[in-house]
Amino acid sequence: MARIIPIATDTDRAEAIAAATDVLLRHRPVAIPTETVYGLAADATHPASITSIYETKGRPRFNPLICHMADLAMAEHYAVFDPISRQLAEAFWPGPLTIVLPLKENSGIHPLATAGLDTVGIRVPVGFTADLIRSFGRPLAAPSANSSGRISPTTAQHVEADLGQKIEVIVDGGPCPVGVESTIVKVEDGEIRLLRPGGIEADAIEAVTGKAVIRAKVSGTAAIEAPGMLASHYAPNASVRLNATEVSSAEALIAFGSGDISGTSSAKAVFNLSPDGDLAEAASNLFDFLKRADASGATGIAVAAIPDEGLGEAINDRLMRAAAPRGTEG
Ligand code: TXA
Ligand code: MG
Repeated sequence: MARIIPIATDTDRAEAIAAATDVLLRHRPVAIPTETVYGLAADATHPASITSIYETKGRPRFNPLICHMADLAMAEHYAVFDPISRQLAEAFWPGPLTIVLPLKENSGIHPLATAGLDTVGIRVPVGFTADLIRSFGRPLAAPSANSSGRISPTTAQHVEADLGQKIEVIVDGGPCPVGVESTIVKVEDGEIRLLRPGGIEADAIEAVTGKAVIRAKVSGTAAIEAPGMLASHYAPNASVRLNATEVSSAEALIAFGSGDISGTSSAKAVFNLSPDGDLAEAASNLFDFLKRADASGATGIAVAAIPDEGLGEAINDRLMRAAAPRGTEG
């Protein structure tokens, strides 16, 4: 059984850093809170550590993992920053932005963490996890702390329910305030490419850089640019139906705003991502409500339309993956 360690007081935090470091030094993964989702973290420089992440998640093959750093200075030790990437790092770190950058030669990041690519996705998280990395002294590779293909965890209890039998320590930082994973960008030939929408809105990136954000091709001849971005992901057991305007009595409803969805009063369960139509609130509730709708015993989950602007882009991306046909890994 995993030990759940709170970080409410300074004493708790010191205890959590000591316990997490002990696990990391034994090349095992530890569950850590970030502002986006809980991560399953291990030493990004050590092969057995990275393998233990994959084994724990039951992920069938290696995808490149995001390497978490304490700050920009630490990141510069491992990767080469062009001026736009540096501008983004200075504006948004610590925070929910991952920047894909060329690896420095002999950087020490293990090729298992980058799936052998010559680039690395780096992010500096807010709070406890940055402190843990600073104290540990090495970057932490961390995907979301869930079994492969399942919904990302936004509370320590989500992690415990899924992986509690397989890991030793879960650091409990409370509910993740952002609630969807980081935005992933890559600067190529002076252009900013969006590899995954997430917790930083594309508009905010455009405002800081004065440059248009280019959406990655999701189909056609272009290779998948963020290789972990496969169709079926975030899969609840119940089927997911998007842009619902009505709900049946066998379904759970995930609503948004004050719009009227017919059948609401007889739905199996009803959740509203944000009665006021606030997309940040909706993002922070998304994964928890998907899990709760799934646990309601409903045969399906009907989800109301979410505006495709700002954080709605990341919310709709995750919902489309939750609704995608099953059978592809994530
Ligand atoms: O908010 C987050 O980003 C969370 C927390 C724990 O930090 N992490 C997360 O990791 O979502 P994960 O493993 O679920 O997603 C990592 C994504 C994958 O889609 C992967 O393909 C992409 O990052 N990625 C990582 N390194 C890359 C690289 N060098 N080039 C392109 N894509 C990369
Ligand atoms: Mg994930």
